[in-house]
Amino acid sequence: MATPPGLLVDTRGRPLRDLRISVTDRCNFRCSYCMPKETFGQDYPYLAHSALLTFEEITRLARQFVLQGVQKLRLTGGEPLLRKNIETLITQLSALRTPGGKALDLTLTTNGSLLQRKAQLLKAAGLQRVTVSLDGLDDAVFRSMNDVDFPVADVLAGLQAACDAGLGPIKINMVVKRGTNDQEILPMARHFRGSGMVLRFIEYMDVGATNGWRMNEVLPSAEVVRRIHSEMPLVPLEASAPGETAERWGYADGNGRHDVAAGEIGVISSVTQAFCGTCNRARLSTEGQLFLCLFASRGYDLKTLLRNTASDDQLASALAYIWQARNDRYSELRSLQPQDSAESSARRVEMSYIGG
Ligand code: GTP
Ligand code: 5AD
Ligand code: SF4
Ligand code: SF4
Repeated sequence: MATPPGLLVDTRGRPLRDLRISVTDRCNFRCSYCMPKETFGQDYPYLAHSALLTFEEITRLARQFVLQGVQKLRLTGGEPLLRKNIETLITQLSALRTPGGKALDLTLTTNGSLLQRKAQLLKAAGLQRVTVSLDGLDDAVFRSMNDVDFPVADVLAGLQAACDAGLGPIKINMVVKRGTNDQEILPMARHFRGSGMVLRFIEYMDVGATNGWRMNEVLPSAEVVRRIHSEMPLVPLEASAPGETAERWGYADGNGRHDVAAGEIGVISSVTQAFCGTCNRARLSTEGQLFLCLFASRGYDLKTLLRNTASDDQLASALAYIWQARNDRYSELRSLQPQDSAESSARRVEMSYIGG
């Protein structure tokens, strides 16, 4: 029997609140920490269109997740704006309501390259907000981070288009790699201070099996906060909701209080301060595999269930059964063995496949 809505918890007492849906495994960028060119070349076996969940299948599954307690939906990829007619999916998802009748937090993570063209359309379809990945302001650094020579000015124009379309509050995600783009931390902080956008610094993670991750390329969030604080004083802020990824810091005014107009930053410390204890996120891959952890090596095949004409009740029971058995806490376990872990990465799925 399905558990009443919102009461589903896993073996560690964690509720299911957040569903990330990957809509394509393709991307027009080749960030070395995510889709390095050596692996994701011309002959990389991307999924065929027939393997992807259709929008109707995604929406049907999402509805069941929402009945089981999900309150936030995030579309990811790869680059989700590369999926044809993504606005049609957004229209369908934006019509979903929680069992209590509330609208969902419906958002999307993008590299910003197509935002200029699509921001208005996305807003009109019912998208509430976007999170834009941006790893630096310096054009040369940015071009080398995305590794396809994409100019930073085009992403900044996309951000402006998202602002103009009302897709806020906008968050900016910057993955920090020590020795590659950490010199961009302060320029980024200065640029977005007082902009109304929330800049978040993400520790470079050992996700997937292809990025050649090394601990010495991780710049701990504590160091990010220290660098910014030394120029622009910060004060700690409360978490906005339980289970959030980011620790929040506000810019201080002359009295050491949060200056709301100056705004805030966030740090996401999955390596140095794992947040598995409150992890309420599930991930649906492009082809309908359900992953319970970013670092999982296998998923649960929901597509086959869907295409074998499972009823909604059967889908609900399957979701409840899977979540209640969940025990994953990869980052926490990893932090107990602080050495580089290249050998154990062999079986992990890629972030471009299950979504960020
Ligand atoms: P908001 O609702 O806008 O605060 O988004 P979010 O922080 O929940 O999601 P987002 O996709 O913006 O997450 C930012 C980054 O945090 C991701 O790109 C990942 O690098 C990392 N991250 C997100 N979720 C997890 C997680 O469950 N585990 C780990 N280890 N890292 C995560
Ligand atoms: N480490 C940290 N974050 C990553 N992302 C992808 N790969 C990594 C990694 N190795 C996240 C970034 C990016 C989003 C699409 O996925 O936040 O902005
Ligand atoms: Fe594409 Fe985002 Fe991965 Fe970069 S991090 S390759 S933009 S999916
Ligand atoms: Fe959740 Fe896995 Fe990330 Fe831990 S490592 S926070 S369990 S997704």
